[in-house]
Amino acid sequence: MPQELQGFVPPTTPATSAHAPGTLVDKYGRHITYIRLSITDRCDFRCFYCMAEEMEFLSREQVLSLEECLRIARTFTGMGVTKVRITGGEPLVRRNAMWLLRQIGRLEGLKELVVTTNGSQLDRYAAEMRDAGVKRVNISLDTLNAERFKAITRVGDISKVLRGIDAARAAGFSGIKLNTVMMRGENDDEFCDLVQFAVDKGIDISFIEEMPLGTVDHPRADTYFSSDDAMALLRSHFELVSSAESTGGPARYWRIPGTETKVGFISPHSHNFCDSCNRVRITCKGELYPCLGQNDALALMPVLRGNPGDDAPLRQAIVDSMGIKPKGHDFNEQMQNPKVVRFMSMTGG
Ligand code: 5AD
Ligand code: SF4
Repeated sequence: MPQELQGFVPPTTPATSAHAPGTLVDKYGRHITYIRLSITDRCDFRCFYCMAEEMEFLSREQVLSLEECLRIARTFTGMGVTKVRITGGEPLVRRNAMWLLRQIGRLEGLKELVVTTNGSQLDRYAAEMRDAGVKRVNISLDTLNAERFKAITRVGDISKVLRGIDAARAAGFSGIKLNTVMMRGENDDEFCDLVQFAVDKGIDISFIEEMPLGTVDHPRADTYFSSDDAMALLRSHFELVSSAESTGGPARYWRIPGTETKVGFISPHSHNFCDSCNRVRITCKGELYPCLGQNDALALMPVLRGNPGDDAPLRQAIVDSMGIKPKGHDFNEQMQNPKVVRFMSMTGG
């Protein structure tokens, strides 16, 4: 097989499932059908677990242009990727983000365009996003308390986010999910209230174990709260019925009978999910990270900028990245001995 095509199985029949031909396959036989693309490292919040208080952001030239973002998305969908998640930083603070969503929403082969946002701009953009073809949105919300919200985000205004959640509900997305990072002593007294809020709004919620990414001035080992503990806590208030549904990702879901709400747990510490990993991440600097928990990356920017009219080298680089996708990560080891120095705002969660 020519070197260019190693690792890339050309489509013979249309890709209909994660295991259909035409998908990217890594060394361990995992099919890559999902990319998470960060379109900015900037954010209008400064969540203490995500960013340092004083962050230096990248200059404009260091960041992928929107055209380059589109080119990456188009190349991946041409290689069997069917799901694209746009992340940040906060993706909706990027100027002309709507243009990009509209373009990606039209790509052939794409089944799902989704966005992860802090919700602060949804009031303004939800309807336009839906129109651009965004199917679902994930909205970060760690607390319902305005003062606490300000303390966690350092600068955020919860009322804007609450308006954003309602705008998203009005826009008619096929799914809206809250993401709550669990922190002992910070928000663990609110898990039941957050679930009740999701039930009242008719939306889903996922609880996330905090991951040791970037150096932040908060003691992660002390605030660690496991999914199993959260589940035990929620079970005292809600009936949780195991749901077989899966997005092929790390979350496990439970339904609350008589409601529209699913409760998910994303457990990078306590339940390793690497075996079924179906994704790679691309930072706003154009670095392709095959794994969230490892430092290995492949720089796509020189390939993009060095070959403006030719996508073949980009495809080759993507194929090569399959060779460096590790078998898995170990966040427990990292809690003691951090080695991933990136912030979540770089890799996009
Ligand atoms: N660990 C877990 N979740 C994080 N997020 C940001 N930083 C971390 C971290 N270190 C969350 C945000 C958002 C999602 C993109 O990732 O709160 O919900
Ligand atoms: Fe911004 Fe999200 Fe990071 Fe908070 S967690 S600072 S909202 S990117």
